[in-house]
Amino acid sequence: MKQLIAANWKMNGMPDWAEKVGELARAEVSGAAELLICPPAPLLSLLCEAASDSAVTIGAQDCSADEAGAHTGETDAALIAALGARYVILGHSERRAGGESDALVKAKAERAIACGLRPIVCVGESLDVREAGEANAVVVDQLLSSIPETGDYDIAYEPIWAIGTGRVAEVADIAEMHAAIRAAVKPGPRILYGGSVKPANAQEILATSEVGGALVGGASLQMDSFAAIALHAIR
Ligand code: PGA
Repeated sequence: MKQLIAANWKMNGMPDWAEKVGELARAEVSGAAELLICPPAPLLSLLCEAASDSAVTIGAQDCSADEAGAHTGETDAALIAALGARYVILGHSERRAGGESDALVKAKAERAIACGLRPIVCVGESLDVREAGEANAVVVDQLLSSIPETGDYDIAYEPIWAIGTGRVAEVADIAEMHAAIRAAVKPGPRILYGGSVKPANAQEILATSEVGGALVGGASLQMDSFAAIALHAIR
């Protein structure tokens, strides 16, 4: 599979950001890159339309574990899929910080798969856990409780202390964590790295063993920097 270069726009974007899809589609990026933009839910429809004839894929940032019904404020995975989106980010640390459990992430992933979406299940350790030398064990535990029982999915390893901080994990630590994750899951899921990925560090990160792509926050808000990251996709 190609490396997945995924933009997590978080709570950023306005309707005119649909133009960014065309900007990205026109940018020169490696043929090895699969390009994904995950906008806020209210923009999914506009972005799916803008991306319909391009190589850019659209995904959501979350979905409900439930089927359609009385769940005010939630978004049905079936609706996300019906709009033309193909992926959904699940269990991002910013959502886990609000109380989302591994069990809920797993239930969402299974619902997403049932609706034809490919979940990107996020895991990552806090700085305390890393400093205690427990990062690999904690992340693998979190992962095994969060992934779906069956179906296709991807994983994003995002150390919490590296998200939005400008602080990137050492390449050796990324390689070690990705190897530990690969040993714990069957071949199939790509293992993305996320946390302050920028054009300046993307080449080294994307060339690291078992790195199947990047989940990019801040640097994905401008298409020139996002495309500059995707340029370094190699497999
Ligand atoms: P960042 O965010 O690239 O701004 O660190 C990554 C993420 O939270 O997915």
